[in-house]
Amino acid sequence: MFSLPLLLSAFLPQVLGCADHANHHAPLHNKRQTFNASAALRIPTYWQYDESQDWGKINPNYSLCQTGTQQSPIALLFNQGLSQAHRPHFNGYTANSTGQFYNWGYGPSFTFYHDEGVYDTLPSMEMDNETLYMTGWHVHAPADHTVGGDRSKAELHYVHYDATGRERAVVAIRLDPGQDDSRFFAQFPSPMIHFNDTSSIENMAIDPMQAIREVANFSNFWTYQGSLTSPPCKEGLRWFVARNILFTSVRQMQDLLGASTFSARAEQEVWLHQVNV
Ligand SMILES: *[C@@H]1O[C@H](CO)[C@@H](O)[C@H](O)[C@H]1NC(C)=O
Ligand SMILES: *[C@@H]1O[C@H](CO)[C@@H](O)[C@H](O)[C@H]1NC(C)=O
Ligand SMILES: *[C@@H]1O[C@H](CO)[C@@H](O)[C@H](O)[C@H]1NC(C)=O
Ligand SMILES: *[C@@H]1O[C@H](CO)[C@@H](O)[C@H](O)[C@H]1NC(C)=O
Ligand SMILES: *[C@@H]1O[C@H](CO)[C@@H](O)[C@H](O)[C@H]1NC(C)=O
Ligand SMILES: *[C@@H]1O[C@H](CO)[C@@H](O)[C@H](O)[C@H]1NC(C)=O
Ligand SMILES: [Zn+2]
Repeated sequence: MFSLPLLLSAFLPQVLGCADHANHHAPLHNKRQTFNASAALRIPTYWQYDESQDWGKINPNYSLCQTGTQQSPIALLFNQGLSQAHRPHFNGYTANSTGQFYNWGYGPSFTFYHDEGVYDTLPSMEMDNETLYMTGWHVHAPADHTVGGDRSKAELHYVHYDATGRERAVVAIRLDPGQDDSRFFAQFPSPMIHFNDTSSIENMAIDPMQAIREVANFSNFWTYQGSLTSPPCKEGLRWFVARNILFTSVRQMQDLLGASTFSARAEQEVWLHQVNV
């Protein structure tokens, strides 16, 4: 995942934060607007994915990228089994949740509307008796996590914060081409907004539960203690990686890949991640 507050902090109050409440009630479907995302999203230019082996060198604030004990992503293995612990419950993933579809400069991305600093209005999940709030999703290509040495074409990240605004969990789903359209991705306009076009946003309502349904309700998963997969590589996040792959159609995958650019961090050594513990 990338650190949303870093990228969006200046931008949230005006556009995503909907302080005037207009965004909650306006007809949101397919209303495209433009904005200056390179200014508003503060899309980082001072680090690059293809230099992710050495992010600690760029800035002292990124030292965790080099020295952290629970860095993401990691290689997952079938012989680790699947988790029996920390099972997430997605009861608060409400259909017709509104937000904005755009491109974060590396691939398709979506942010749900919420007032600045207010998280408990967002779609939510339960984890270890704690309620966590989903601020949105984005796609990395290729996938960040390998499983049994296999790397999927892309990976979907559902980013969750706690009520105080700390990044707490990422729900990750690997994406590969199959036969039929994914109903989750069919919700979004095609062709997808290109990585070169960070000035388009599409206001729309989506059902975040749809991707969960497409991986057998997330019934089987790996979990571990990890980090942001981009600088400053902050730790303290629990990762959930679905056992099932979400299959898109070939056309949908080409659309996703065409809108994305290389955005996978180098794999990290397993250290104090406590996989499935
Ligand atoms: C967008 O913002 C960036 C950074 O502030 C600025 O350099 C650029 O000229 C702006 N682009 C447009 C089209 O206004
Ligand atoms: C490191 O982060 C601090 C606090 O955000 C900031 O004031 C400082 O300028 C950063 N240092 C560098 C070298 O970017
Ligand atoms: C979501 O919107 C669709 C289309 O407008 C509607 O049919 C459906 O009942 C809505 N679902 C919920 C849970 O509000
Ligand atoms: C969650 O709450 C239940 C009931 O209070 C308790 O039995 C259980 O141990 C709690 N689980 C965790 C992980 O805190
Ligand atoms: C992306 O934009 C740059 C600068 O405008 C342009 O040179 C390049 O051809 C574009 N790339 C693609 C794949 O559209
Ligand atoms: C997922 O959950 C829904 C609702 O509980 C259920 O109808 C559906 O059969 C489940 N799908 C799978 C693959 O378990
Ligand atoms: Zn991510």
